[in-house]
Formats: sequence, C-alpha cells, structure tokens
Amino acid sequence: MRGLGLHLIFVCGFLFAGATYTSTCLGDGNTSFTICSEKERLALLKFKDSVEDLSGMLSSWVGIDCCMWEGIHCDGITGKVESLHLRGDYYDWVEGYNNYLVSNEVDSSLEDLRHLKYLDLSGNDFQGSRIPKFIRSFKQLSYLNLSHAGFEGIIPPHIGNLSNLKLLDLSWNEKLMADDMEWTFGLSLLKHLDLSLVDLGGAQNRGMLFYMIPSLKELSLSHCGLSNADLRPSLNSSRIRSNIKHLDLGFNSFGGPLPGFFQNMSSLTFLDLSSFNVSLAWNFANLLSMIPSLAELRLSDCGSIRRIYLPLMLIILHFSHNMLSSPVPVIPNLVGLYISHNWLTGPIPTFLGNLSKLDLSFNQLNGSIPEFVGNLAALTHLDLSVNWLTGPIPTSLGKLVSLQLVSLNSNLLNGTIPVSIGRIAKLQTLDLSNNSLEGVVSEAHFANLSMLRFLDDSYNTKLTFNVSRDWIPPFQLVSLDLSSCNIANGFPQRLQNQRKLYKLVLSNASILGPLPRWLRRMPIILHFDLSHNQLIGPLTNLPSGETYGGRTDLVFLDLSENRLTGKIPKCLENLRGLFTMILSSNRLSGVIPSSVALNLLRRLKLNDNNFVGELPRELRNLRYLCILDVGNNRLSGNLPEWVRKELRYLAVLRLHKNNFTGRIPQSFCKASNLRILDVADNNLKGTIPPCLGELIAMVSGRRYRPFEHPSFNSDENVQQVMKGVDIEYTRTWYMVYNMDLSSNRLVGEIPVELTALSMLVGLNLSNNHLSGRIPDTIGNMSELNSLDLSGNELTGVIPPSMADLTFLSHLNLSHNNLSGRIPTGSQLQTLTDSSIYEGNKDLCGPPLPKNCINPGEDPTTITSTSEKKDEAADEKTKVWLFYVDIICGFATGFWGVIGVLLLKRQWRHKVFMFAEESMDKIYVAVVVKVNKIKRRRETA
Ligand SMILES: *[C@@H]1O[C@H](CO)[C@@H](O)[C@H](O)[C@H]1NC(C)=O
Ligand SMILES: *[C@@H]1O[C@H](CO)[C@@H](O)[C@H](O)[C@H]1NC(C)=O
Ligand SMILES: *[C@@H]1O[C@H](CO)[C@@H](O)[C@H](O)[C@H]1NC(C)=O
Ligand SMILES: *[C@@H]1O[C@H](CO)[C@@H](O)[C@H](O)[C@H]1NC(C)=O
Ligand SMILES: *[C@@H]1O[C@H](CO)[C@@H](O)[C@H](O)[C@H]1NC(C)=O
Ligand SMILES: *[C@@H]1O[C@H](CO)[C@@H](O)[C@H](O)[C@H]1NC(C)=O
Repeated sequence: MRGLGLHLIFVCGFLFAGATYTSTCLGDGNTSFTICSEKERLALLKFKDSVEDLSGMLSSWVGIDCCMWEGIHCDGITGKVESLHLRGDYYDWVEGYNNYLVSNEVDSSLEDLRHLKYLDLSGNDFQGSRIPKFIRSFKQLSYLNLSHAGFEGIIPPHIGNLSNLKLLDLSWNEKLMADDMEWTFGLSLLKHLDLSLVDLGGAQNRGMLFYMIPSLKELSLSHCGLSNADLRPSLNSSRIRSNIKHLDLGFNSFGGPLPGFFQNMSSLTFLDLSSFNVSLAWNFANLLSMIPSLAELRLSDCGSIRRIYLPLMLIILHFSHNMLSSPVPVIPNLVGLYISHNWLTGPIPTFLGNLSKLDLSFNQLNGSIPEFVGNLAALTHLDLSVNWLTGPIPTSLGKLVSLQLVSLNSNLLNGTIPVSIGRIAKLQTLDLSNNSLEGVVSEAHFANLSMLRFLDDSYNTKLTFNVSRDWIPPFQLVSLDLSSCNIANGFPQRLQNQRKLYKLVLSNASILGPLPRWLRRMPIILHFDLSHNQLIGPLTNLPSGETYGGRTDLVFLDLSENRLTGKIPKCLENLRGLFTMILSSNRLSGVIPSSVALNLLRRLKLNDNNFVGELPRELRNLRYLCILDVGNNRLSGNLPEWVRKELRYLAVLRLHKNNFTGRIPQSFCKASNLRILDVADNNLKGTIPPCLGELIAMVSGRRYRPFEHPSFNSDENVQQVMKGVDIEYTRTWYMVYNMDLSSNRLVGEIPVELTALSMLVGLNLSNNHLSGRIPDTIGNMSELNSLDLSGNELTGVIPPSMADLTFLSHLNLSHNNLSGRIPTGSQLQTLTDSSIYEGNKDLCGPPLPKNCINPGEDPTTITSTSEKKDEAADEKTKVWLFYVDIICGFATGFWGVIGVLLLKRQWRHKVFMFAEESMDKIYVAVVVKVNKIKRRRETA
C-alpha cells in the first residue's frame, strides 16, 4: 500500500507491458512458417468483435495468419493456437495510460481454441460476468491467469478438470467466491495458486487447500476471509506443507495465539501475515523460531504490534537474543523485512542483520537515520518513508553500492543531501520528497547514477538545483519531480537530452521565462506539470509527444499559476490524448477556441484568466468531462444548455465571476453526477428552477465511476464508499457537495424542492432578490455545513427545523426581512455571532440583544467580516476541488493510492474491510497533500 511501491507498479506495469508483449508474441521465428487454422482465426475474430478495445490492444488482429497477431502464439508444427496472452492493465490505473479490453462476458468463441496451453486474460474487465464454464475444454491448459478481470460469482468447479494446470491465478476479482474447494484436489500438478480476494469464507473444504495439493509451492490467500480454524492441522498435513515456499495469508481474520500450523514448513521462504492480529507481539517470536528457512517476512498492519517500540519489535522477531552484544540475526536467512503501517515507535535500531530489503514505511519512527546503515552492505531496498525521522541523510549511505531503491519521503529530514549518494551506481529510485532538506544539489550528486530512473526531490523548499548548463546527466530518467524546490539557471536546458521521460513535474520551482523551443521535440512526456512558476509569453512549444505505447500526445498538462499571455492557440487540437488541461490563473485572453474540446478530456480548468465571449458549444461533446472550471473570466452569453444528461460524469461545474446572463437552464437538473455547481457572481436572472432539487448526486451521493467506460451498468453507488471513508473523516469527505448561486439577480422563492439535496454541505443563495419564506423543510439538508441566504428579501420566521442542522458551522441570514424569534436548538446555540442575523429588523431573541418581549431595540451593528469569509470560502473550495480530483481519479502515483482505494471497482469491497483500519494512514496522506496545497498558496 506504500505510495512509492504502487507508484512503481503503475509505472512499470505501463512501461514494460508493451515489451513483454513483443517478446512473447514475436519472439518465435518459426511461427511465420505456420498458418493458423481458419476455425481458430474466426474464433479469435469473433472474440475481438465481442470486446471493446479502446486502446487498440487487438489492432494487429487482421490478416490471414492469426499466428502472427499480437498476443497469439501457435504451435510451430501444427499451427494450433497454443497461447493467448491478452494481459491488460485495468488494475494499474494511471490517468490515460490504460490498455485493456472491456466486455460483459468472455465470448464462447474462444471455446474453439482446443489446444490452448496458456491463457492470460488478466487485467481486462469482464464486468461482473461469470468465469466461463467452457474453460474446462482446454484440457492441455497449464497456465491460467484470470486475475484482476472483473469476474464475479462462484468459481466453476470445472476448473478442477484441468489436470495439467501448473499455475492458477484467480486473484483480485471483486465478488468472486467459492462454495466448495473440493475441485482443487484434482489439480495434482499445480505449483502456484493465487486466490487472493476470493471470498472463501463460506466454502466447504477450504482448510484443505493447505493439505491436498502436494505439488503446491506458492499459495496466496490474502483477503480471503479465512480464520484460525482453517489452519487446524490435519493428519497428512505436514508432508504437504513442507513443500510450500511462498505463503501469503495477509489480511484475513487470523488472531489470538498463533496456531501450530507453521510447524514443519521447512521450505518456507516467503511469509506474509499482514494484519495477523496475534494476542501478544511476542507470539511472533515463537513463529519465527519455527521457520528458520524464512527469507522474507511481511507484517504490515498487524494490530497487535501497533505503536510498539521498534527495537523491541526486532528483538521479538528474534533478531538477537541480546540486542547489545549480538548483531547477528537469529533467523539466519531473513533478507526481506516489511513492517510497514504499524505505527511502530522509537529509533531505527542498530541491529538490522543482513537485510537486503527493509520496509519500515508508515510508522512513527523518530530520531535520525544512523550512520550505521552504511554497514548494511546487502541492502538493495530501503524504504523509511512516512515516519518522523529527523536530522541529516547519513553520508554512509553512499557505501551501499547494491542499493536500488531509497525512499525517505515524508519525514522531517534536514541538512544537505550528501554527495556520496552519487556513488550508488545501481540506484534506480531516489525519493527524498517532502522533507526539509536544504543546500545545493549539483552534478556531483549524480556522478555515477547511470541507472537512475525515478527522481523525486519535491517539496524540499530550501533545496536548490544548480547544475551547469552544459552538464550531460549520466542517466535517462523516466520520472522527474522537483516541484517546490528551487531551480537555478532558469529552465533546465539539459532536460532536452532526457529521451525517456514520461513524467516531468517542475511546479513551483521558480522557473522564469518563456516555454523553450526544444520542449516541442521532447519525445515521451505524458505528464507535464510546470504550474506555479513564472512562465511568460504565449502558450507555445508544448511537447507534442511521439508515438509511445500505441498512444500519442500528452495526457496531463498543467501550466496553471504562471503569467502566460495571448490566446489559446489552435494547435492545441493536436493534443488529442489529453485527459487533463489546467491553464488556470494565467493572463490568457481572447475567446476560448473550440480546439480545447479534446475528446478524451476529463478535466478542463481555464479559470482565473481573461477569456471573453461564449463557451464553445463543442464542449458538449466531451462525454468524459468530470471537471469544468471557467470561473473568474469575462465570459458572457447564456449558461450552457448542453450541460445535461449526456455529460454523465460531470461532477464540477464552476462558472462563477463571469458575465453570464439569462436564466439557469432546466437542463442542468439532469446532470446526474454534479456535486459542485457554482454560478455565483454573474448576471443571472429569473427564478431558481425547482428541478435543481433533482440533482441526483446531491440527493443520494450517487456513485461516480470516472475511469470506467460508459457501457458499465453496475448500479452500486458511491454511498458505500463514502460510508467506508466516513468512519474516519466524515467532515472532509462530505464537503464535496456544494451549490453556489449567490450574487446574481435571481428572483422568486427558494424552491422547497432544494431541501431534498440532502448531500449538500454548502448552499449559498446570498445577494439575490429572493423573496418568500425559508422552506420549513430546510432541516432535511442534514449535511449542511454552511448556509448563506443573506442579502435577499426573505420574509417570515426562521423555520424551527433549522435547529436540526447539526453540522452547521457557518450561517448567514443577515439583511433580509425575517421576523420573529430566532429558534434555539443544539447547533444554533453554538452560532452566537449576532451578525448572522443583522439587518433583519423584526428578528428577536438571542444572540441578538433585542429581546422578543421588548421589541424596538436596535441590534448592535457589527462590522462586516464578509471579506475574510470570502477568502476562507475560497480556500475551502480549493480543498473541495482537491477531493473531487481524487473522486475523479486524477491523482496519480502516491495519490493514486487514495483514488484507487476509493474507486477501484475490484478493490473497493474487500479493501474497505481493512481500509477502515487503515484509514488513519490514508487520512494522514490526504492531510499532507492538503497542507502542501496550502503551502503552495502561501509561497505563491
Ligand atoms: C525452427 O524450426 C526448425 C525446424 O523445425 C528448428 O530447427 C529451429 O530450431 C526452429 N527455430 C526456432 C527459433 O524455434
Ligand atoms: C497474473 O496476471 C497479473 C497481471 O494481470 C500478474 O500481476 C500476476 O503476476 C499474474 N499471475 C501469475 C501467477 O503469473
Ligand atoms: C469434470 O469436473 C466435474 C465437476 O468437478 C466432474 O463431475 C467431471 O467428472 C469431470 N470430468 C472429467 C472428464 O474429469
Ligand atoms: C491421508 O493420506 C491418506 C493416503 O495418503 C489418505 O487416504 C487420507 O485420506 C489422508 N487423510 C487426510 C485427512 O487428508
Ligand atoms: C535539523 O533539525 C534539528 C532538530 O530536529 C536541529 O537541531 C538541527 O540543527 C537541524 N540541522 C540543520 C542543518 O538545520
Ligand atoms: C455584461 O453583459 C451585459 C449584457 O450583455 C453588458 O451590458 C455588460 O456591460 C457586461 N458587463 C461586463 C462587465 O462586461
């Protein structure tokens, strides 16, 4: 669950998937001499026909010889299709990089491929269909991978007929379950079985999985709903268990004292017991003395060791009988130790044995990183991210010549980055982001880093990059993030030699001047973020991208908060692959051209510029659009009638501070996913359409499925997810719903229908000409945090139901013609600022000084604080927008974790069962990000 880890998986999944394809598919020179059978060719074509292939995975499936098609391998002599390698990356969701097939079933045409030995359909989306029964006819199948493929329902026992299977992977299919595991007993050659996330809780014979397949070497049963009873030893068990090398039992319901199960597992080298809730941390000691062969141990998120003192924990793990005199581990073979997400405390101990992989991320370790780490000569992976470590990065790190990954992000490290880091010749990933490092980073820091691929030094605001203009870096980076650092010497010229970059983030890095010409020739940038700098001049020279992984063009473009001028150029229409375009807060002008209406756009932010004229009608064609923000420009004309049902993903519509005229169109009411509607500060007239009360997302929190194809028809809703999250942070998450119609010229009454919008957290109708009464049912808007009806012509009494608004923390009813006694009630009692009610001369009762029995007294006038509130509201909106970004699944890398957890269809269900416990960590992560946003604003 670590940010970096996932990040790497994302990136690698993407970068290398293509490579695997070609090598397995085109590697055999003899396939060209065989011609595939017509029957099999037609079967494949029918399959191709049955799937939706947005990324062109099957684009090579044309022509007569199907043996030459991508993903197909034929027997060199018979020409029969022998392997079907159609792995998608549906699970590795990164904005815009997806490459997977979608279909509502596996087409039965595949049944004709009778000679299949190898079938990999993993990572595609079969939309909740059943695993097809016809799989049983592949009698020769030895490899079957259906993981991450959206299958649901009961696993067909017919898989047990595939007696040649050596590998079976059905993991990570949400809602896949088993009623009886007896079928596995037929798989006498099976070496590798992965049923992670399959619900085995109700399956007969599930305990037998450990005993009945003697050939089994790797068994993964994480998130399967198993409990201690399933580990009860049986008569023959020891013989069989002694073959198992790799055992993943993480995230089940194991707890209490450890069972004797692990005795006699004499071959075991990998063990994952994450979330194993032993009654006493000391129980782990017994465990490990049972398994001397163990090389890698994972104990993430084990409740019982939460907050334990790390040195103690290591003693518990039998690293040493005597922590002072014997640095030799008692588990002689242990080389990989993962104890992340445990809130472990204390310093990094000096006795870490011979580890090569150490992951202590997401704990509460403090103190500094000891120079002693330089003695861990075997170390290849060091992850200490998200802790409370202080002090400098030890110089001795440079001695660790085997290191490939160093992740120290999100600590409190200070001092300079030691030059010795430049000696770690095998280093591929260096993540020092989000610390307080300072000083200058120069060429010397990278002297020997020829393998470096990922460099993230972002959010070290006192760090300066100063390398000479003619320096030629020894590495070819894939990803570079230097945001919120200082970059000396203007735009980093040397970047133009980096020919493999897919991600370049240099936001808030004091970059001055125009976009350089050579940018245009940068080959592979998919993700390009130069926001929060001092770029000037026109919007030109954007990296146009060349063909990459079957896709062209930029996917993510953020140039917000610069000083770019001029019009949006027409050539923007070349960026056809763009998902995200953020040009906010520049000095761009002219009309918004139709060229911004790029088909795949999810997010379009042009706010805070000087655009004039009307919104281009072509925006109506952006069927994936999730966020449209054109606020604070000089746009005019009517509000866009095309915001309606067809824009089914539109979650945020911000048109505030423009000069839009006319009425609020009824069509808005059909925008079924809208959760932020902001048309404040325009010239709108007419009444508030009562049908706005039908905005279904605001009524019921309807589920948003950002990266799923519209043909999805699952009707689960996000409410569940929200509830899952709700457990830890109700307030922030519910903030995502907001309606602001303030500062227009709206007339008529507040439609009573609006009070059906029970998800709304903010409602602002202030500064219009609304009349009539506040609806009595206002108390139904139970999530309201902020309600502003000030500056209207409302009459009558304040409805007593307003006292039911238990979350209300900001209320403004001032400057209306309200009368009568101010209702009292739990929450209203806490809102004691009398300015809330000022300017209503017939209101009385506390907090107003005017007594209801003695009318005639003037309430004290209180100076307006509205400006401050505006600012606060603005900040709030930014935070809201950040959450919506998550909701829309835009966050990548580190933030992808959150997005994934929240929305990934396959993960949601099960992951949330344990996420309730893990939420605190995610919460920490979210807070860090929000703080960063704040920090940025402050430094801007
Ligand atoms: C191709 O086939 C020939 C004869 O059947 C065989 O000798 C040769 O090793 C094969 N080449 C490959 C790359 O499989
Ligand atoms: C099955 O496919 C997934 C990717 O789709 C991969 O991560 C996994 O390692 C594969 N399983 C096996 C056992 O090879
Ligand atoms: C296939 O599996 C089913 C169910 O497990 C079983 O009844 C049947 O006998 C098996 N057929 C063969 C040919 O093994
Ligand atoms: C133990 O093994 C014997 C033969 O090897 C078998 O008949 C018996 O069913 C097995 N018992 C259990 C509990 O698996
Ligand atoms: C680093 O922080 C510690 C406190 O955590 C402080 O004592 C020390 O002076 C700082 N060092 C530098 C170089 O800023
Ligand atoms: C807004 O639009 C109205 C009517 O089209 C026009 O009279 C007015 O001048 C515009 N205001 C601004 C600030 O552009």
